[in-house]
Amino acid sequence: MKKILISQMEELAKTKAPSLSTLSNLLAALFWSEEHINWAGLYLRDPKESGCWLGPFQGKAACFFIPEGKGVISACLEKNKPLLVEDVLTFKGHIACDSASRSEAVLPLYTPEGEIFGVLDLDSEQEGFFRPEDLSILIQIAEMIQTFALSLRL
Ligand code: SME
Repeated sequence: MKKILISQMEELAKTKAPSLSTLSNLLAALFWSEEHINWAGLYLRDPKESGCWLGPFQGKAACFFIPEGKGVISACLEKNKPLLVEDVLTFKGHIACDSASRSEAVLPLYTPEGEIFGVLDLDSEQEGFFRPEDLSILIQIAEMIQTFALSLRL
């Protein structure tokens, strides 16, 4: 992941626009920042439905709902920390919305009170695309995105 993405996203975040408009552009900047990212978007935790609903994203149409306990998304919620999945084919319970995806990064999105209200999900068709050294950039990205996604909380 390239560091310049952070400053590009910071510029977009300065715009006085409705949160959803800014969030949409942040996700577009993220998606197009790397040739090998094939999906970038949010899943929003719905405590009433015990799972997560698809939120704004860039990429191919994806699963509408991830039930609690299933997939990489739920693992991120349960472990309450970012996860990098080097090879999704070896991750037990991985949900393949796009069979082209081979690696994945998921990061929790927090309310100001520290409650998880969603997950930022990035997919790549390259195995091992998201590296441990990308984590600090990914965390900064997730923090920026959570600010503008907060109003979508279910
Ligand atoms: N792979 C995710 C599902 C969401 S798609 O990647 C967009 C999972 O296993 O939870």
